[in-house]
Amino acid sequence: MTIAAAEIKSCCASAYASPAARFLLGDRLHPGGAALTSVLAEALAVGPGKLVVDVASGSGASALQLARETGCDVIGVDLSPESVEAATLAAADQGVRVRFVVGDAEALPLADASVDGVLCECALCIFPDKAAAAREIARVLRSGARVALSDMTAERERLPAELTSLAAWVACVADARPLPEIANLLSDAGLHVERVEAQDEMLAALLDRVAARLSVARMTGSMSVAGAVDQGEQLVVAARAALDDGALGYGIVVARKP
Ligand SMILES: C[S@@+](CC[C@H](N)C(=O)[O-])C[C@H]1O[C@@H](n2cnc3c(N)ncnc32)[C@H](O)[C@@H]1O
Repeated sequence: MTIAAAEIKSCCASAYASPAARFLLGDRLHPGGAALTSVLAEALAVGPGKLVVDVASGSGASALQLARETGCDVIGVDLSPESVEAATLAAADQGVRVRFVVGDAEALPLADASVDGVLCECALCIFPDKAAAAREIARVLRSGARVALSDMTAERERLPAELTSLAAWVACVADARPLPEIANLLSDAGLHVERVEAQDEMLAALLDRVAARLSVARMTGSMSVAGAVDQGEQLVVAARAALDDGALGYGIVVARKP
């Protein structure tokens, strides 16, 4: 199936800013939640006086956590103006000084060699041009700085048809890549890969939580978009089968700019 890049980007940006995404996922729009964000924050090895960019910052929860846990300055970049606005409000509410800006991961609004770390969680899988996003990450990093990334992983040729739709793309599945391919994207962009780890159990836990929220939605009639609960349940069942089959997973990659 060929879907235009612009359509994919616009669907992904609006889907994750929607009340349905917040209802199903909370403010952590990735497997592993705050605990996995802490693992990535530690891998970045940054502290006060350093600047980190959270690429595809979503609700802003990870950027705020990173600022609190490490004391570094953080800027969040996301394609969705609604998400950037919500994240800016969350930062003001929590009294944490993090700036959020609208921008595309494939053309980051940051100068060359201007940041001491890049965080990117569960997002490379939905960027249509992953090589461009990897090059952008490498471009903005200072020499010696790291990117810590977590992402959905998949062997696309083994995914069933229902996991290759636009909805499955938005759900981070249809264009996810195997963990070694994600590492190769970063090394092809000039980064030195230091760590590659599967975290498939994090995806299993997320699917269980989403299935439970969908049951609540079915009982209470929330998520009023026609067919949304049915479609969500079908995606979760297919994703769980693909995970059990080893065709789908989650993982982390840490790489350093030489
Ligand atoms: C699965 S969510 C992950 C959000 C956040 N990183 C987290 O883990 O909570 C994907 C995010 O990517 C953003 N996004 C999609 N395409 C993008 C692009 N080309 N550039 C920047 N952000 C993008 C969406 O708006 C959404 O907030």
